[in-house]
Amino acid sequence: MASLRVFGLILLLAAVGASAQQRTNNSQTIWTSGPLLEAVELLAVFNDSKTFVDLPLLRDAATVDASFNALPKEANGFPANSTLQDFLAANFGTAGSDFESAAPDDFSSQPEDFLPNVTDPSIRQWALQVNDLWQDLCREVNQSVMEQPQLHSLLPLPGITAVPGDRFKELYYWDSFWVIKGLLVSGMTETAMSEVRNLLSLLETYGHVPNGARVYYINRSQPPMLSNMVLAVNEAAQDDDFLAYAMPLLVSEHDYWTSEPKQVTVATAGGSYNLSRFYADWFAPRPESYLEDYQSAQGMSPSQQKQLWHDLASGAESGMDFTSRWFSNPDNITTIQTTRIIPAELNAYLYQMETNIADLADQMGNSTLAASFRGFAAARKEAINTLMYSEAAGKWFDLLIEDITQSPVSASQHNNTISYVSQYIPLWVGIADEGSAQAQAVTQSFFDSGLIQPGGISTSTYNSTQQWDFPNCWAPLQDIMVEALTSYGGEQGQREAEKIVQIWLNSNYLGFQETGFMVEKYDAVTPGIPGAGGEYTVQSGFGWTNGVMLSFLNTFGWNPEAANMTTAVAE
Ligand SMILES: *[C@@H]1O[C@H](CO)[C@@H](O)[C@H](O)[C@H]1NC(C)=O
Ligand SMILES: *[C@@H]1O[C@H](CO)[C@@H](O)[C@H](O)[C@H]1NC(C)=O
Ligand SMILES: *[C@@H]1O[C@H](CO)[C@@H](O)[C@H](O)[C@H]1NC(C)=O
Ligand SMILES: *[C@@H]1O[C@H](CO)[C@@H](O)[C@H](O)[C@H]1NC(C)=O
Ligand SMILES: *[C@@H]1O[C@H](CO)[C@@H](O)[C@H](O)[C@H]1NC(C)=O
Ligand SMILES: *[C@@H]1O[C@H](CO)[C@@H](O)[C@H](O)[C@H]1NC(C)=O
Ligand SMILES: *[C@@H]1O[C@H](CO)[C@@H](O)[C@H](O)[C@H]1NC(C)=O
Ligand SMILES: *[C@@H]1O[C@H](CO)[C@@H](O)[C@H](O)[C@H]1NC(C)=O
Ligand SMILES: *[C@@H]1O[C@H](CO)[C@@H](O)[C@H](O)[C@H]1NC(C)=O
Ligand SMILES: *[C@@H]1O[C@H](CO)[C@@H](O)[C@H](O)[C@H]1NC(C)=O
Ligand SMILES: *[C@@H]1O[C@H](CO)[C@@H](O)[C@H](O)[C@H]1NC(C)=O
Ligand SMILES: *[C@@H]1O[C@H](CO)[C@@H](O)[C@H](O)[C@H]1NC(C)=O
Repeated sequence: MASLRVFGLILLLAAVGASAQQRTNNSQTIWTSGPLLEAVELLAVFNDSKTFVDLPLLRDAATVDASFNALPKEANGFPANSTLQDFLAANFGTAGSDFESAAPDDFSSQPEDFLPNVTDPSIRQWALQVNDLWQDLCREVNQSVMEQPQLHSLLPLPGITAVPGDRFKELYYWDSFWVIKGLLVSGMTETAMSEVRNLLSLLETYGHVPNGARVYYINRSQPPMLSNMVLAVNEAAQDDDFLAYAMPLLVSEHDYWTSEPKQVTVATAGGSYNLSRFYADWFAPRPESYLEDYQSAQGMSPSQQKQLWHDLASGAESGMDFTSRWFSNPDNITTIQTTRIIPAELNAYLYQMETNIADLADQMGNSTLAASFRGFAAARKEAINTLMYSEAAGKWFDLLIEDITQSPVSASQHNNTISYVSQYIPLWVGIADEGSAQAQAVTQSFFDSGLIQPGGISTSTYNSTQQWDFPNCWAPLQDIMVEALTSYGGEQGQREAEKIVQIWLNSNYLGFQETGFMVEKYDAVTPGIPGAGGEYTVQSGFGWTNGVMLSFLNTFGWNPEAANMTTAVAE
């Protein structure tokens, strides 16, 4: 990756010149656009594009901008590399220094009733070590972030939070669901609730939950898991005030995902259906991947560049950045077309959100609200099954919009031959009824898909070298499919789920023994090996991996024999 970056630099430094855009001294934009960002990123002052956009300001943005402007520039329009480095050292603090380690009050190194069914001493020891990691991962914003937010790319947050780890040193949206599952197993209900309150406060401020708690993540969201988190925390804490605070916000999040341009109306001969897609409000290089996005757009016309950057940001909104699934040519990221795709799993998540809100409304005694959300859910279920389900394939295909400039759109099943876990995610949320022939067909199709591998469930069957493809296995997808098979897969599904759990735990354990780390993704082919590919090196920590591991141990225990069970899957 390092050599790729340098190779790209040589090409693009010639092209950039002094294409400085209009200067702005708005503090919120110093990390998201403008000549300083462009210079730091295109000169690759840091080996990771994300480093600069995480640096807090030492003085106000207008002053910093003015002194950047006054720096001597070279022929390429940028200051000399070393000049720029001195400038950064004088004007910016250290990345991460404003999100400080915090000791969670409810942490215990020997949590009460911790994994009662895990008796194997070495596995218990491992689980306690992972439990200990919450201490490393918990953060609280520095006082200055609350008092002088304009000096920080970090967004103000009211309470403590566990971060994923490594370069992901801020709060992330969908990660949090699995982080919270783990916190609850560790008995850290207050910390879990605080993390959800942080997300709710962002939703209150921005009208949606940003991808993460940074200014450069505001214009996009991530897979909507908040209602699941509210449900999980509410079940553990039974706090009516919390629920009363959360409920109208959840309804507002539903509005966000079901309004244009995220929602599209699909017209068919049989009627019209409303479904949603990923669609970020962003048309420039992503600041945290500025150089990568800049390079991807080389040689394109300005309007093609804008479309590319929009689809890259929308791909990031999907949480699956990146996957061949979003590309028209599965090997070529510049053919990304995220906003043309109506994804099966996003609509499954929204069905789940609608059902969750209805359940919570019932719990609060608001039957009107419950009825309207049950109505939304029923309409979406019908749309998903009518438009996306393929009886021949036994799975739900994404829809591909013919012409995104039309409204309503026409769209057809995007039925290429690659298998993706996402095509089975509707099974998780009840789009096929329990015990139905459809649920059975989907379960069998999943067994035959090639996705179940010796190291876990692979994200897809295609090796594109993108990180959300073969051979990478991700913790949240293991959890989703294990729950799907357990709830809707019948007896065979339950057996296979148990096996997948043990395969996954075994891989996590081998990796931990080998390296001392839990990582963000694992290899599907060889248990214990970290995953690879994509825009950055594999990250350790790691919030959602720890969460799923603790949750699996809590629900299924440690049962290595199950990993060698003979099951329905041909190997
Ligand atoms: C930039 O800062 C100057 C001086 O602080 C101020 O007068 C001007 O309005 C600011 N411009 C913008 C676009 O914020
Ligand atoms: C600028 O300096 C950094 C850090 O020393 C280095 O990695 C990078 O390659 C340099 N950029 C250029 C264009 O020489
Ligand atoms: C990037 O730089 C950081 C610190 O500047 C260093 O710790 C890290 O090893 C470097 N990573 C790579 C991939 O070169
Ligand atoms: C933390 O906040 C205090 C009080 O506002 C401030 O003095 C200090 O510089 C801040 N530290 C960082 C790293 O932002
Ligand atoms: C039910 O919820 C809706 C939407 O939040 C709210 O407007 C309404 O007042 C609630 N009704 C009752 C009886 O609480
Ligand atoms: C789709 O959504 C629009 C806007 O919310 C609404 O007016 C329309 O009735 C919906 N159509 C269907 C088929 O539900
Ligand atoms: C982010 O969203 C705001 C509000 O819609 C918009 O004004 C701004 O241009 C967007 N930023 C980018 C880079 O697209
Ligand atoms: C990737 O796709 C772009 C846009 O269609 C094209 O210009 C480029 O040549 C392709 N690159 C490769 C390696 O195929
Ligand atoms: C995709 O759909 C087309 C048209 O319905 C059909 O002819 C083709 O066999 C399908 N391909 C796959 C892989 O399902
Ligand atoms: C995936 O493709 C890359 C690039 O061709 C290759 O280096 C890697 O070994 C492949 N991985 C697997 C598991 O086949
Ligand atoms: C734990 O073990 C007990 C006793 O064997 C059993 O009743 C219980 O169902 C198990 N719990 C879980 C979560 O597996
Ligand atoms: C499961 O199989 C693997 C190799 O296939 C073997 O190393 C391991 O000991 C087996 N585990 C059990 C509990 O039989």
